[in-house]
Amino acid sequence: MNQQTIVGAEELMRQQEFTARVRSLAQRPQTFHIVTMGCQMNERDSETIAGMLAEMGLRPEAEREKADLILYNTCCVRENAENRALGNVIWLKELKKERPELLICVGGCMAQEEGMAQRLKAQYPFIDLVFGTHNLHRLPEYLWRVLEKRQPVVEVLHSDGVIAEGLPQRRASAFSAFVNIMYGCDNFCSYCIVPYVRGRERSREPEAVLEECKRLVDLGVQEITLLGQNVNSYRGGGNEFAELLRRVDALGVPRIRFMTSHPKDLSEELIAAYGELAHLMPNLHLPVQAGNDEILRAMNRRYTRERYLELIKKLRSAKPDIGLSTDIIVGFPGETLAQFEDTLSLVEAVRFDSAFTFIYSKRIGTRAAQLPDDTPAEVKSERIQRLIALQADISREILTAQVGRRETVLVESISARDEGWVGGKTPRGHMVNFPGNAGLIGRFVRVEIVSAGRNTLRGKQITEE
Ligand code: SAH
Ligand code: SF4
Ligand code: F3S
Repeated sequence: MNQQTIVGAEELMRQQEFTARVRSLAQRPQTFHIVTMGCQMNERDSETIAGMLAEMGLRPEAEREKADLILYNTCCVRENAENRALGNVIWLKELKKERPELLICVGGCMAQEEGMAQRLKAQYPFIDLVFGTHNLHRLPEYLWRVLEKRQPVVEVLHSDGVIAEGLPQRRASAFSAFVNIMYGCDNFCSYCIVPYVRGRERSREPEAVLEECKRLVDLGVQEITLLGQNVNSYRGGGNEFAELLRRVDALGVPRIRFMTSHPKDLSEELIAAYGELAHLMPNLHLPVQAGNDEILRAMNRRYTRERYLELIKKLRSAKPDIGLSTDIIVGFPGETLAQFEDTLSLVEAVRFDSAFTFIYSKRIGTRAAQLPDDTPAEVKSERIQRLIALQADISREILTAQVGRRETVLVESISARDEGWVGGKTPRGHMVNFPGNAGLIGRFVRVEIVSAGRNTLRGKQITEE
């Protein structure tokens, strides 16, 4: 790997100095609150941001309105994600009027978008700090500048991206952890803004990944999710990712998952790993996006419907009970009714456990933004409703087929709706709710599935000989 992509020790030390300086400032914020939007990448970045702020002496504050520093880690993958971020920021203007000492920071993918930093600066001058995805590790320096000069800082770098190792972290969960294996994306699917805001594909060294995983295992973490926009092209593709999985598996962490896989790079070795690795969960998120070859070509996905179906077949022969989920875009520019119906028939053929469905959203700067898009919004909306209804039936049938089974659930949380209930996932990734208390969180519990709902299962705890 190119050494220049790794942030040097000197730069990290400089940031350590700024951390110490912020910490010793008499007039510094005491508490912080981070609002995370978007995907798991952002969730993991927020853990790093929280770690850096904690080292600067700030404490987390659960209530946003009470915090001295509010940081938005934004997403821009679709227009509504962006609107949500901007809507939140406008609302903060009022809060800032009441509490002028409040610090407002905006980072993440939306901040990295072309022209966005300037727009934020011009339209929302009350924001104290804007930073992008490539300079997150310099947060201590920026915060120090904001506090010292009492002037807004807007710093978004044009860069292919870097890798910063050894940053502090404050993890959201004690038993389930995200571990980045790579950053950025080189696929340039024609609709997608991610490659523009996250930079070029770059992989961490396997030793760095394994060391982090090892530390987590030592801390008692039960589940590790390896993260990348396209984990199958880890270190250039081939069997590198399967090899890394093998090494993580050998560490003995009970559950391993990963996100996200691109079908074009799914290797035979990875498929085989499903049949071989003891801790790799029988679950795969494999975004298909569309079921029609012309649309797939226009999306620059570089696989065909037939190839995708073949991969599913191979996966199921390696691991018959594998749970599959996917992402689908409806209403890509020029999509005809017949082409959309190919997506429906693919969904019927595969029978995914679940699907995330999105109406195409035009992103400025992407190739698809140039394409004529004359399908009316109501038509797109009708199409997505048909797709959602079809998938809901399939999900329900798959969940119903789980009734009567005995499963091991890793308990994640207290149920939001029913007091005295907890929820967690089966190996396949189905959410099960069952009567239990907070003491079970982070533990494995044997459960018998008693009924199926729309998206979740209900169960009861059992003891087995
Ligand atoms: N790297 C991941 C996806 C990241 S974005 C992958 O390739 O699978 C998550 C999902 O958002 C994508 O899979 C896609 O379905 C959806 N998406 C991305 N850009 C979009 C756009 N412009 N409009 C609608 N959905 C989009
Ligand atoms: Fe976007 Fe495609 Fe990269 Fe996924 S693989 S992040 S959809 S460009
Ligand atoms: Fe959004 Fe950035 Fe993830 S655009 S989906 S937060 S990589």
